Parts: sequence; structure tokens; C-alpha cells
Amino acid sequence: MNLWMVRNQMADKYIMESPFEGERVRRKTDTEATISQLNALGLIKGMHSLDIGCASGAVTLEMAKIAYPAKVIGIDRSEERINEARTLAEKKKAKNVEFVTGDVYKLPFAKNKFAFLWNRFLFEYLKKPINALEEMKRIAKEGGYVVTGDLDGNSLFHYPIDSNLGKGLYNVTRFLSEFGFDAFVGRKLFHYYQTAGFSKITPYLMQHHLIAGTPSIAEIENWTEKTRTIRKNFGSIYPDKEELEFVLLGLEKLIKDPNTFTYSALIFMKGEKA
Ligand SMILES: C[S@@+](CC[C@H](N)C(=O)[O-])C[C@H]1O[C@@H](n2cnc3c(N)ncnc32)[C@H](O)[C@@H]1O
Repeated sequence: MNLWMVRNQMADKYIMESPFEGERVRRKTDTEATISQLNALGLIKGMHSLDIGCASGAVTLEMAKIAYPAKVIGIDRSEERINEARTLAEKKKAKNVEFVTGDVYKLPFAKNKFAFLWNRFLFEYLKKPINALEEMKRIAKEGGYVVTGDLDGNSLFHYPIDSNLGKGLYNVTRFLSEFGFDAFVGRKLFHYYQTAGFSKITPYLMQHHLIAGTPSIAEIENWTEKTRTIRKNFGSIYPDKEELEFVLLGLEKLIKDPNTFTYSALIFMKGEKA
């Protein structure tokens, strides 16, 4: 396969695609933080809900506990991660949960169906965010909520950082944006919600990555898996191989450095369907 073909193939793929992605996402899920986000954003008992881009289902299962006895459905375009989610649900004996394969742009549900639609860490990968919101709005009930949570400054804010590494990091981020990745999608959500025609829109600002000093094992594993996947998926098509390696190795070292402060903001938007 030539470079043009590999590039074209990646253009339509989830940029973090890897056989280990379900496991990475599950392991990095902070259950306590997730529950408090779901509570803050208005998920309550009895709400028929949808978790879009649910990956291996860790968050969907928490939603199902809160919304019980109402049914919560998790949807993701990866069949592999949906199978992992089903296995996890069986293991946890979750009754009111179901997982289906599908795309956010064409959700396989009738209109006016869900009271609460939730997605987290999905919009950073979407090329057509407004279309995705319009599709979610279509299947929300009147008075139902559509909630999106995503990062602002994904993987970019570290101090102290070598200036060449900083520059390289922005170059890699710019390159990934050609494949739909938006490291600054958080700040754009309010505008997207307005454009998609939501009536009441409420923003929330929370923290996501916050590493000050020595990171936990889970944090190191998450960042190492991320750099490994980017190397594997983009190593052959990144225009300057030396730069990519310099950035990925530099990032791995930076995260482990006990002097590093790293953070990114998590912005949620909640829109109501009139
Ligand atoms: C980072 S994971 C999401 C993790 C999870 N929502 C959480 O909060 O931990 C992103 C997921 O979005 C899925 N995804 C990407 N594009 C999608 C699309 N167009 N439709 C449905 N799912 C999509 C990917 O397959 C992946 O499993």
C-alpha cells in the first residue's frame, strides 16, 4: 500500500484505533469523577438514556446504575469495543443496559426517544460536529437533554517544557487535525450547540488531566498507550519521521518527569430540546 492509500484509509478511521483501545479507555476511566459529572449534568433515576461513543462501556454501566430501572443504551462504531462492553455488562450483571454498534451521524433510533443523551471524549474526533448534534437532537425527547463533554488543550499544556518539544507537539497536533482530531474542541462546543439550535444551553468547566509531579501507574500507561497508537497509526505517513519520534519520546519522558505539571480542561455543554 502506498502512502496516499494509507493516508486515505486513515482519513475515515478513528485516529486512536488499536486492539488495545477498549482496555485503555476502560482503565483510564475515573469512576468517581464520572459519577459526579453525570450527577452534575442532570442524569437521574428513570431517564431513558444513550451513551454515544461508549467504547468498552465503563461509563454506560455507571449511567445504568443511576438511571435504573430505565434502560441505558451504549453505542459505538467499533464492533470490537461493543463486544467488550457486552462482556463487561454480563460480568457486572447489569440488567438495564444494552450495547449496539452504530455511527453518531446516523443513530439507529426513532425521533423523540431519549430523555438524556450523553457523549464524552467523542467530539475531539468528529469532522462534522454540528451534524452529530443535529442527529442527537432528532432522537432526544422534547425537554430532553443532549450533553457533550470534551477537552480543551488535549495533551498540549505542560510546564516546564523544552521549546522544541513544545513546537513539535503543536506540529503533530496540526497534522492530526487533518484527520479530524481537534485538541481545542472544548471551547467550540457552545457555538456548536447554538448552531444546532438548542434552546437552553448550559456550560460547565471541570478538570481532566491534572498531573503535578510523579504520575500514577494508570496515567503512565494511558499516555504510553496513546503515543504507541499514534506512532503505529501515523508513523508511516507523518512527513517528518524524526520530528514525530522526538515528540512521542519527549512526551513519554515529560509525563514521567516528577517536575512536570500537566493539565487539560474538560468542558461540558448541556442543551435542552425545545
Ligand atoms: C475516547 S473513546 C470514548 C470514551 C468514553 N466515551 C469515555 O467517556 O470514557 C472514543 C470512542 O468514540 C468512538 N467513535 C469515534 N467516532 C465515532 C462515530 N462517528 N460514531 C460512533 N462512535 C465513534 C470510537 O470508536 C471510540 O470508542
